Amino acid sequence: MKNKLIAPSLLSADFGNLQRDIEMLNHSQADWLHVDVMDGRFVPNISFGFPVMKTIQQHAKKFVDVHLMIVEPEKYVEEFIEHGADLVSVHYEACTHLHRVIHQIQNKGAKAGVVLNPATPVLLLEDIISDVDLVLLMSVNPGFGGQKFIDNTYKKISETKDLILGNNSTALIQVDGGVNLDNASRLFDAGADVLVAGNAVFSSENPEKTIELLKI
Ligand code: DX5
Ligand code: ZN
Repeated sequence: MKNKLIAPSLLSADFGNLQRDIEMLNHSQADWLHVDVMDGRFVPNISFGFPVMKTIQQHAKKFVDVHLMIVEPEKYVEEFIEHGADLVSVHYEACTHLHRVIHQIQNKGAKAGVVLNPATPVLLLEDIISDVDLVLLMSVNPGFGGQKFIDNTYKKISETKDLILGNNSTALIQVDGGVNLDNASRLFDAGADVLVAGNAVFSSENPEKTIELLKI
């Protein structure tokens, strides 16, 4: 997989026109489609589940990246893959048996990512980094789109890069939350491979153009 990937988050899409927004992303330079699933327990918000995943599966032509903000993700990861997820990321903080869940996802044929909340240190990934396909660093507290980027993320990107290099891992680094046209290039320069952007894309006048600009 190449670097400088943009993954627009459907959380900020217009759910009354979801098919239209997915088709816009299909035609755009977006690389992945980021799908935020929230259960009202792991995070203080509820987004959507399988009925919406079905619509995404029907219309999306891009790589589908599912970010599970749910407790007990092991109960649902396989069903998300059956609903078209190419990659499933689970929170470190939500998994009692992280190693088992990561392999459960991969054995079902998808890529597996691990997500860290802003206050969870990168060093906790030492014994799982060789197993994962992606590390997702939250640059806001998960639960809502449109929040302010937390600057400590730059330090965590560089720590994650060191951890990846030190372990001959091929994991990608993804950053999620508060990404916009002002910080995207600095994040790529710092070592991020994939940037998620919800609000910056969907609240802009020209979402396709914004996706293009986020890569520069
Ligand atoms: C937050 C979600 C993000 C969010 C990104 O819980 O994981 O993917 O939608 O939102 P923006 O880009 O709007 O900060
Ligand atoms: Zn997300």
